[in-house]
Amino acid sequence: MKKRPLNESPSHFVLENMLSQQYGSGVLTDRKTLIHDMHAEIELDRTPSPYEDGMSSRSSSSSGMEEKRACSLQRSCSPPAVEADYSDATAADKAHVWHHMLNHKAAQDAHMIVAGKGLRVWDSRGREFLDVTSGGLWTVNAGYGREEIANAVRDQLLQLNFFSQVAANVPAARFAEKLTSKMPGISRVYYASSGSEAIEKAFKMVRLIAHQKYGGIKHKILYRERDYHGGTAGALAATGQGQRREGFGPFAPGFVEVPHCCEYRSQWGKVDDYGLRAANEIEKVILAEGPETVGAICLEPITAGGGAIVPPSGYWERVQEICSKYKVGCEMREHGALATSTSETTPHT
Ligand SMILES: Cc1ncc(COP(=O)(O)O)c(C=O)c1O
Repeated sequence: MKKRPLNESPSHFVLENMLSQQYGSGVLTDRKTLIHDMHAEIELDRTPSPYEDGMSSRSSSSSGMEEKRACSLQRSCSPPAVEADYSDATAADKAHVWHHMLNHKAAQDAHMIVAGKGLRVWDSRGREFLDVTSGGLWTVNAGYGREEIANAVRDQLLQLNFFSQVAANVPAARFAEKLTSKMPGISRVYYASSGSEAIEKAFKMVRLIAHQKYGGIKHKILYRERDYHGGTAGALAATGQGQRREGFGPFAPGFVEVPHCCEYRSQWGKVDDYGLRAANEIEKVILAEGPETVGAICLEPITAGGGAIVPPSGYWERVQEICSKYKVGCEMREHGALATSTSETTPHT
């Protein structure tokens, strides 16, 4: 297959198509501005971040450092070699791929990303992008093309590529130990293949605890307006975004919405201590439902797709107080990682 290097000139596009598909063009403009501001700042301080290209070649020599600097946000690194013509793949995509969260008409012209290195990706037309969405969904946190990760995965695939979790395996045990050492109060890890699957597991834990300890009564799960927890049916029942729920009802019973905590879109006008007020609204919902019926609340630490909402100060402290008071488990989740805090013992689900 004929290979060609992709665009070598510095170009600082944001992932326009991806962003406009996810957020609409209004937000795209803001994000573009943001990235351009970011470039301006980085131009002043050229110290490379650990996530920049060239990270995997940990050379301490000055030429190694120079190489890393040359790979800063402002310049292009040599992209991986790619195929010259993707028209067959584009046709196959149009004909056979069902894209996640995309309107099928929009997906007819889905942006095809073909290569990545460091924090840049390249598309099938040879354009270079700074990947501000980290894989389109905030997931490629270690960057693209990391040789040490690829090598470790390859070695493990050859050693033992799969065995169900009905048995133990070495990497799962070692990684769980490492992960829990970084999360005080959490002693066990359940491995899931996606964020949606992780949240389903957490919902099952809540329901099982309700059955084992509370005669099935303390089974309700609260979720917050504007939060998103995944594309599966249970996760959708806990999704606080009307557009994403539209057309998929009826939803699983026992899920109840609490107000969002986005001060910029305050539901109560000007409020002095918005964080406290928004958390107190959760208590109101618990009392209205009956604390004996509420098993858990599930919250994004920072609401992502629902508006990039960082909860205001005082919010988490008050949420924690409320959860302890009413024995409500608090699930905080981001992609693929789920931390559940509950005073109950964790059953096998
Ligand atoms: C905040 C949040 N939670 C959960 C999910 C679902 O994760 P996954 O797509 O891995 O199932 C996503 C992503 O779509 C997300 O943005």
